[in-house]
Amino acid sequence: MTKEQASELHALSSAVLALNQHLDVREVLRMVVSSARALLGARYAALGVPDDHGAFAEFVAVGVSDAQWQAIGPLPRQHGLLGVMLQDPHPQRLADIRAHPRFAGWPRAHPALKDFLGMPIVSDDEIVGAIYLANKTAPGGFTADDEELLAVFAAHAAIALTNARLYERNHELSVVEERHRLAQELHDAVSQKLFSLRLSASAVATLVGTDPGRARDELNRVQELASEALGELRSVIWELRPAELADDGFVAVLKQHVQVLDRIHDPEVLWRARCVPHLDDDRAAVVVRIAQEALHNALRHAQPKRVTVTLSCRVGGGALLEVADDGSGFDVTEVERTSRRLGLGSMRDRARDAGGELTIASSPGRGTTVRLELPEEHRS
Ligand SMILES: Nc1ncnc2c1ncn2[C@@H]1O[C@H](COP(=O)(O)OP(=O)(O)OP(=O)(O)O)[C@@H](O)[C@H]1O
Ligand SMILES: [Mg+2]
Repeated sequence: MTKEQASELHALSSAVLALNQHLDVREVLRMVVSSARALLGARYAALGVPDDHGAFAEFVAVGVSDAQWQAIGPLPRQHGLLGVMLQDPHPQRLADIRAHPRFAGWPRAHPALKDFLGMPIVSDDEIVGAIYLANKTAPGGFTADDEELLAVFAAHAAIALTNARLYERNHELSVVEERHRLAQELHDAVSQKLFSLRLSASAVATLVGTDPGRARDELNRVQELASEALGELRSVIWELRPAELADDGFVAVLKQHVQVLDRIHDPEVLWRARCVPHLDDDRAAVVVRIAQEALHNALRHAQPKRVTVTLSCRVGGGALLEVADDGSGFDVTEVERTSRRLGLGSMRDRARDAGGELTIASSPGRGTTVRLELPEEHRS
């Protein structure tokens, strides 16, 4: 093996190793592009993944700045030369892309490309994407050796991409399993209660004419069962909430939480978001937890007609959360002095630990407003 071949092999194997460290599909695509670009010494590199409608499902490019990317405009459609490689499994090596019969021009802000090497990524006889390289940094354009090297790399990229897809699919499956578990739980907890409830109700129907005393007892039982079923339902729904915090963004989680509570409780539960505050994950979780406890308290203790959750941005950065009910209100100082319950205390602790401030304004008969103020930066 010549020295040159050895260093090429080394570069290839590092590129391939890098590919397999990622299990997220977008991450793998980005890695494929940047590794291919480094491996072949190209100024520009891109990778396209087709969708089923003649456009790109994904298009990742490197060598172009964000501003340039913005100026170029929408993703390319699969026409022209880029599209050729999504149908034809042969590589394209050109001294000047503009001379190709399928070359169709490019948007104004697009960088000028000249020498070009395009390589389809083939997995199980199917073209799953294509790598596009342009403007080799060394003079003379891409060589036959470059083409061969990129072909080997593309074969590895196909494997890495397939693995990442399988991994994501697995993750989706575990989400499906989780749903099944919850459905099961709902079934066990709630439908059994509803079933008994129906039995008691039909007993009432038969007894009401003949034995009013027992009919009344059965009616009490109906009421009991109904509120138990409601309780079970609420706790299953409760259990569903926090897990989503990580991937969906706390504002979406909070909003959804409010909407669910609105559906399952009698009082109106309103959501108002004035803006999306910037918070790190830990502090976003604090906002969600405090909102949950304040909502829970309002619905459990205040007998309100309406509870309103308002999220806004604090002047100078950070978030402002208000949970206001129009219910019974309570003597905050007295309760905090004497109560052995944990809710109010834990709200205060969480707010303080996150560098924020919690105020509870309430007076008997006048409703309660819990207000959390969290600055963007934690200054302790
Ligand atoms: N929005 C509200 N309206 C009326 N009373 C409230 C409200 N929030 C709290 N309270 C009163 O303050 C008490 C203390 O609330 P706290 O959240 O600490 O405990 P809890 O809700 O009773 O129990 P938990 O520890 O499960 O939260 C409540 O029991 C209730 O009497
Ligand atoms: Mg509470």
